[in-house]
Amino acid sequence: MQEAVCGSCTMLINGHVRQACSALVDKLLEEESAEIELRPTSSFPVVRDLVVDRRRLFRALEKVRAWISVDGCHDLGPGPRQSPKEQEEAYPLSQCMSCGCCLEACP
Ligand code: SF4
Ligand code: FES
Repeated sequence: MQEAVCGSCTMLINGHVRQACSALVDKLLEEESAEIELRPTSSFPVVRDLVVDRRRLFRALEKVRAWISVDGCHDLGPGPRQSPKEQEEAYPLSQCMSCGCCLEACP
């Protein structure tokens, strides 16, 4: 199994949106069907074959500056203080890899 951390391999596999790098062929053939159907996700424009253009998602992240700058090695200071409750709420959001699965799956 690969890392499943970048989202670039997201596609529809047997009709379910997921990461191709962590979809095991043996398991798919055993548990789902004798054939494996691959399709590009429908949430983004298709560039070619299974490759989609996720720039819509990245542009939205740019609009809200949804990142922490790490350019350079200068001291960025201690950062804003967060309560444990705020940390608990923010941590799951920080794990988003911009794969777009939720855009495909959510009606
Ligand atoms: S929130 Fe959406 S885009 Fe982010 S990792 Fe989860 S499914 Fe992917
Ligand atoms: S190759 Fe990065 S999530 Fe699959």
